[in-house]
Amino acid sequence: MNVKVFVVFAFCCCWLKVGGEECRGVTYDPSIEICCDDVIRLLPDSQVADPDCCGTEVIDRTTHFCCERKARYRPCHTPDCCGNNAFDREYQICCKRRIHSRPSNNSVCCNEVGMDQYTQLCCDGQVRQRPIGDDANADCCGYEAIDKTKKICCQRIIQDRLSAEMDCCADIAFDKNVAMCCDSVVNVKPVESPACCGSKAINSNVQMCCDGVIHTQPSGSPACCGNLTMDTLSHICCEGVINERKPGDKCCNSMSVDLSTERCCFGKVCAQADFPTGCCKLEIVKGKKTRICCHK
Ligand SMILES: *[C@@H]1O[C@H](CO)[C@@H](O)[C@H](O)[C@H]1NC(C)=O
Ligand SMILES: *[C@@H]1O[C@H](CO)[C@@H](O)[C@H](O)[C@H]1NC(C)=O
Repeated sequence: MNVKVFVVFAFCCCWLKVGGEECRGVTYDPSIEICCDDVIRLLPDSQVADPDCCGTEVIDRTTHFCCERKARYRPCHTPDCCGNNAFDREYQICCKRRIHSRPSNNSVCCNEVGMDQYTQLCCDGQVRQRPIGDDANADCCGYEAIDKTKKICCQRIIQDRLSAEMDCCADIAFDKNVAMCCDSVVNVKPVESPACCGSKAINSNVQMCCDGVIHTQPSGSPACCGNLTMDTLSHICCEGVINERKPGDKCCNSMSVDLSTERCCFGKVCAQADFPTGCCKLEIVKGKKTRICCHK
């Protein structure tokens, strides 16, 4: 708004006729004119109690309200703008530039409509009645309102809350006292030492999970070797292959090797007797010298 002059110059007309005011370089007479956004408008007659600019137009502020440069009838109580329309805050609510009647004094917007935040909930943009009871227990599950003490929401699916110890396993609700979730699958919970092995539940006191394969725990000092189990007191895991443990606890590729009697030559286990000076043995093949290893 670009209001240059409001005051009515009652006693100074002679001076005004000479000087006046400027509206984009054009002189005008503020006693009868007003400059609205660089446009000179005639002031309405004296009936207009409170003239003002609205965009390039003149409005009477006692009867009109200006919203985004559009003149609107002035709402009676608490005028405000909703986009380029005027509304009454006392009785209406503006949601996404749309005017709705105000459901109550506690109104808030839910997407494009108004709702009472004490009795209603906005669930994914939908107005829902709050469940009866403690407000703190009200929650949304997708588009629906639930009482969290009675229902549980798993991936937007409402399910009965059978105990206080409920949890979600993907979209299924389960009771953590008697069930467990393994890889999004509900399992009966083992009584002792529950653990997951892939999507299955195991008793880790007596079972073992090796690479997703369930085994009964071997005796001794159990360990996994790939997806198998072994007793590390008697066996050694060499690149995922179970071998008898030999003195020295060494692997030669996927085999175990006893370095007191054997050698690991080019990834193969050789008897030391065959290679008294080391791993290499020379062989002449078609006139070429080639390094070879044992022939086991
Ligand atoms: C809304 O609030 C106004 C002013 O605070 C009060 O006069 C009126 O009684 C209230 N209306 C309701 C329905 O609570
Ligand atoms: C165990 O591992 C081996 C080697 O990776 C594989 O071939 C076999 O399918 C696996 N067994 C199971 C039951 O997963």
